[in-house]
Amino acid sequence: MKCNRLVDVGRRQFLRGGVLGAAGAAAATVLPAGQAQAQTAKAMLDYPSSKLANISDLKVNEPMDIGYPDADSPGILLKLGTPVEGGVGPDGDIVAYSVLCPHKGYIMSYAASDKTLNCPGHFSRFDCEKGGQQIWGHATQNLPQFTLRVDDKGDIYAEGADELIYGRLSNVL
Ligand code: FES
Repeated sequence: MKCNRLVDVGRRQFLRGGVLGAAGAAAATVLPAGQAQAQTAKAMLDYPSSKLANISDLKVNEPMDIGYPDADSPGILLKLGTPVEGGVGPDGDIVAYSVLCPHKGYIMSYAASDKTLNCPGHFSRFDCEKGGQQIWGHATQNLPQFTLRVDDKGDIYAEGADELIYGRLSNVL
């Protein structure tokens, strides 16, 4: 008899907790429209627009060293010679990448023979003609590719990045 009463008390407490929990969850997920938009906006980064070079400075398949979005983030600017997805300029072949390996941050070197970036640490390889896609190795993400824009004078600007740069919690510090 006493045991049945305890079971009954337990059931009522369980149900009360469930109702309160559901009400709390509903309150947490329903935000006024303006507040929800403000939270989304905070998640977006303001990337600097940095002039990297002029088209006339580039030679096909010879990378130029750059730093983007700041001097502590080394990368390359590269004219590939054939149009690629995400490539800019009149030939659609100019791209830019971080050269910090996404695995452990070693600085990678460019191999002109197959247009790849190669890591001396544990030998990950990334395809510069395929948006920095990893083609071999330990890394678990593709290479950050920088978003480029070319103005009517042929000046090339970097204005964003599509992956997290190695060692950072945010690409823009
Ligand atoms: Fe590049 Fe490990 S640091 S593969």
